[in-house]
Amino acid sequence: MKTVVETMTDGVDEDGILRAGEILRGGGLVAFPTETVYGLGADALDQEAARKIYQAKGRPSDNPLIVHIADWEAIHKITEELPPQAKLLADTFWPGPLTMILKKSAAVPRATTGGLDTVAVRMPDNAVALALIRAGGGYVAAPSANTSGRPSPTTAGHVLEDMDGVIDMIIDGGPVQIGLESTIVDLTGEVPVILRPGFISQEMLRGVIGPVEMDRGLSSQDPAVHPKAPGMKYRHYAPKAPLFIVEGEAGRVRQKINELTVAEHERGHLAGVIATDESLGFYEHAAVKSIGSRTEELSIAQHLYAILREFDLMDVSVIYSEAFEMPQLGAAIMNRLMKAAGHQVIEV
Ligand code: TXA
Ligand code: MG
Repeated sequence: MKTVVETMTDGVDEDGILRAGEILRGGGLVAFPTETVYGLGADALDQEAARKIYQAKGRPSDNPLIVHIADWEAIHKITEELPPQAKLLADTFWPGPLTMILKKSAAVPRATTGGLDTVAVRMPDNAVALALIRAGGGYVAAPSANTSGRPSPTTAGHVLEDMDGVIDMIIDGGPVQIGLESTIVDLTGEVPVILRPGFISQEMLRGVIGPVEMDRGLSSQDPAVHPKAPGMKYRHYAPKAPLFIVEGEAGRVRQKINELTVAEHERGHLAGVIATDESLGFYEHAAVKSIGSRTEELSIAQHLYAILREFDLMDVSVIYSEAFEMPQLGAAIMNRLMKAAGHQVIEV
């Protein structure tokens, strides 16, 4: 299959959106930009189209998809019951990086929800994405547009690396703004639960709807306690080289990483280091990359997946990363980094 690339880095191109919408309505696959990561879209109400997504990504079929909508009114067709929190959260955060889990209606095929009777719904904050959803019939199922197990794509180039020749079209809308997938909040239980941390933090949700819990399965080291979002149980984003997170007081972290990279160098290997603008100059005998600045937490979120992809193209034997405990995005950044590291942490 030839994958067409439509460039919309300067905004929505109406003709291109019409062509993309036709592909979706015909049951095809179109990758598109959102504010979080690139999505791989298909008609969410067409089970054959949804199945194609799983095939293209090599994704386990029990891992449900998020249904993207462009207008609040669209939510009624795909949900059964709407708790009052849903409207409050939508009024505050939509369009934006928040996904809500709700009871699904019969209109949503089980191929889309991985067999569950709940559905994940989100309205992305990206003009190209919203135009595409409307042109495609109003309901676009879209996981991140990476091959299963690779870091989520934050540029159209990343999507091409994984999906060239496999899908009908990629819309290039330039690099994304956030770089980490949306916050997922489950509204089907008594108390809302965060199933995946993201740009919208627990505090921000509490400010709107009161008590919100964090899924215990996200942080538990007990293998018997599973995360509630099926996708969060998989070891995603694993780089080719083993990744270790070094945690502790900043000065000691730098010193420890330096000891480790020098030792690796003496063994005749090259270590990679995930540093920040502030610590970049400190490390020796290593392939050092800055992920962003500690004074701007969004810059760190934006570059995490790109850096993991860059290290995969290099011949590093091991990667050491600083830890990033930041006020708003720390939970989301460390959740993804810990998964990439398979929870390998060195405490200093
Ligand atoms: O920011 C995002 O959310 C991006 C962009 C493209 O919108 N999408 C995304 O989709 O990250 P994906 O498929 O990579 O991640 C969806 C996550 C998975 O962990 C999945 O298990 C969970 O959402 N999920 C989907 N439906 C669910 C449901 N009904 N119940 C529990 N978890 C659900
Ligand atoms: Mg994903």
